[in-house]
Amino acid sequence: MSPAEPAAAEASGKPSAVPDPATASDTAQWYRHFGTVDAPGSSPCYAAWSVGIAGDAEVIRRIDQWPHTKRQPLLILAAARFLGAQISPYRDFRRFLDHHWDAVAEIVLSRSTQTNEAGRCATLLPSLAQIAAAESRPLALIEVGASAGLALFPDRYGYEFVGTGAGAPEESAADSAAEARTTRLVPDGAQPGTFPVLRCVTSGPVPLPAEIPRVAWRAGIDLNPLDVRDPDDVAWLEALVWPEQEFRLERLRQAIAMARERPPLLVAGDLNEQLVELAGRAPADAALVVFHSAVMAYLDAGGRSRFRRTVADLAAERGCHWLSNEGHTVVVQADGSSVVPEMDDARLRGRFLLLQDGQPAAITGPHGQSLEWL
Ligand SMILES: C[S@@+](CC[C@H](N)C(=O)[O-])C[C@H]1O[C@@H](n2cnc3c(N)ncnc32)[C@H](O)[C@@H]1O
Repeated sequence: MSPAEPAAAEASGKPSAVPDPATASDTAQWYRHFGTVDAPGSSPCYAAWSVGIAGDAEVIRRIDQWPHTKRQPLLILAAARFLGAQISPYRDFRRFLDHHWDAVAEIVLSRSTQTNEAGRCATLLPSLAQIAAAESRPLALIEVGASAGLALFPDRYGYEFVGTGAGAPEESAADSAAEARTTRLVPDGAQPGTFPVLRCVTSGPVPLPAEIPRVAWRAGIDLNPLDVRDPDDVAWLEALVWPEQEFRLERLRQAIAMARERPPLLVAGDLNEQLVELAGRAPADAALVVFHSAVMAYLDAGGRSRFRRTVADLAAERGCHWLSNEGHTVVVQADGSSVVPEMDDARLRGRFLLLQDGQPAAITGPHGQSLEWL
């Protein structure tokens, strides 16, 4: 995925100083940053592998043969895991790379980071509920950069919002008092155990809804939609989950199993080319919401401005709401532009900024694990 699954790599995916793609030492610096800053809190294995690669001139030399957007740590690490690399010390991983280098290169060059995180629905839900309540009608959802479309089912997941009061959320709030501060929401008519439950630690005046808003229609756009019924695509989605994050893997599998019953409509193509036409297919009697998470890092500054104009035109001409949930970047920006100019990088610290109709609303955990209302 483009940007720190805990991520800061998904959230930021880059060193604070963007490396110059032209030199091998900058690639090493990129891996060292990932291994010492982004990965340690979430995956000791990825931290060790990435630091190992940073200090391994031969592997850096091979990575530098690839185009710049293919050199990001998450992509090669996920490719190796897709091919069966197990949690191990770097020397064993290095042996694995030597034995499988051609296959790793083939995956890296043919795939991209398309992490699909259903957990992000928890950070979008309060905004979606506010929109549905204000419009007094069900929602029509379009997700641009949808991957396999798992974030298109906010009405099919269960939620546990655990409040921490004011200030930045403590993502580990698990004490007994947390129970008293927990708001649970269950999808309409669903039996317990048949849906993933998304847990999110909240702080600030989060407008938690009393119920999950109704979704009348849903569709996504992606350059390369992943198919929840295709075993290769599912294996790739699983490989994109960081090694020690078993709870995310479990959640992904549950979400995929649910989506397989009624896969979402996914249109292949560039979001800037497809959005207006797809919006024309949304039912007129539903409130249209265009949203995206961890996508804008894949666009250059021109692509992002064009998208903002398109959404503004759509809002003026047809009527729509816009939710943007983005970190800095996962793919290093060649043009040096900022994905979320509304807030400085230091304040986000590996988290995402949620904009509601262009206005900052919250700072969110990149996998939906926290929601700090502004
Ligand atoms: C990191 S994934 C995020 C997926 C999903 N939004 C989520 O939050 O789980 C980013 C997705 O954006 C897609 N993407 C990138 N650039 C795009 C573009 N110009 N048009 C459509 N999709 C794009 C990628 O193919 C990828 O599937």
